[in-house]
Amino acid sequence: MSSGKRVLLIVGGGIAAYKALELVRLLRKRGIAVRAVLTKAGEEFVTPLSLSALTEDKVYTDLFSLTDEAEMGHIQLSRSADLIVVAPATADLLAKMRAGLAGDLASTLLLATDTPVLAAPAMNVRMWTHAATQENVKVLTERGISFIGPDEGDMACGEFGPGRMAEPAAIAEAVAAQLDPAAKPLAGKRAVVTSGPTYEPIDPVRYIANRSSGKQGHAIAAALAAAGAEVTLVTGPTREPDPAGVTVRHIETARQMLAGVEAALPADIAIFAAAVADWRVAEEATQKLKKDGSGDIPALSMTENPDILKTVSGLDGKRPALVIGFAAETENVVPHATEKRARKGCDWILANDVSPATGTFGGDANTIHLITGDGAEDWPTLTKHEVAAKLAARITEHFTA
Ligand code: CTP
Repeated sequence: MSSGKRVLLIVGGGIAAYKALELVRLLRKRGIAVRAVLTKAGEEFVTPLSLSALTEDKVYTDLFSLTDEAEMGHIQLSRSADLIVVAPATADLLAKMRAGLAGDLASTLLLATDTPVLAAPAMNVRMWTHAATQENVKVLTERGISFIGPDEGDMACGEFGPGRMAEPAAIAEAVAAQLDPAAKPLAGKRAVVTSGPTYEPIDPVRYIANRSSGKQGHAIAAALAAAGAEVTLVTGPTREPDPAGVTVRHIETARQMLAGVEAALPADIAIFAAAVADWRVAEEATQKLKKDGSGDIPALSMTENPDILKTVSGLDGKRPALVIGFAAETENVVPHATEKRARKGCDWILANDVSPATGTFGGDANTIHLITGDGAEDWPTLTKHEVAAKLAARITEHFTA
């Protein structure tokens, strides 16, 4: 239980800082004590008074405050918590953390501590996708910093994309999970997940692809990582941001996806959510195909791609203990998926109805039938994030039962 635990909340300067107030309320509701540190920039968005009222504690803002130092030195402040939460974690704070700067109270605390840190990034979409920020997040992840979010959506600056701070309820959930080791039930397990479409080249400028968004596969990778698994995501081109805390391999073709999966083995869990092209053009043209004026249409001769799910299901020795595939069906969903499970040799199949009317492909919701050796289980219509969380819970049950 996380009740009785202590969080040091560092509030950075961003419009999302107002959500930090709600986060304090939710954490305290769970019995978690919160002590807040507000950066100078953070003070432009929320006042020390409102944070102090909600935490029922003093709010720390100044590295060189004589009274604060007399009461509690900043080193002790950084070590008095079970978890440090940075929310919002601005681009500036992340850069300071990565570089080890210590010019103000927040950055000094982050440098002076060995307490685990959870960061909830929030910034403009271009700042988030900038190579500098992405590199900072990658390095910080490698150093063991945990991340939640950012979410994708409309932003205060009028743009759309990843960069919005995760909702306070989601951050509170992640804090509770981090404070309670039993909430990391897949710690020590390795997982590989495929996601998105594949691109199969015709010539140097053209390719065959499909409409897979990668939303479901990416959500599964994130959910497994949140449950403590060490996750490699092998993904075709998508608009989804790389989930934080996950090793991501970007590929284009089915053959590259297979190689990426094989490189991630051995693993305990393998989940194949990608929409892999069944066929590719037999001979990719080395030069762009040209109209030659004759009116002749080029005939594309196709050849079969490797079936990654079937290949991994049939591995000797390196076969993951739990291999899970998807079945995209438009009719007789459960019988078709049951047959597919047997044909592919996998352990579970998540069957979904992808008839155009359901809006599953590219959409945010999914209606799943889980096919295991024991039969079919019908899940209600859920968001793809909920499907991912439910699947992670089922996998946990499988390994702990
Ligand atoms: N899959 C794969 N490699 C392929 C093709 C599919 O790993 N070359 C995986 C998908 O990631 C998914 C499952 O196999 O987990 C889907 O199987 P597939 O035979 O492609 O079936 P559907 O796409 O569902 O449809 P159909 O049976 O009509 O081909």
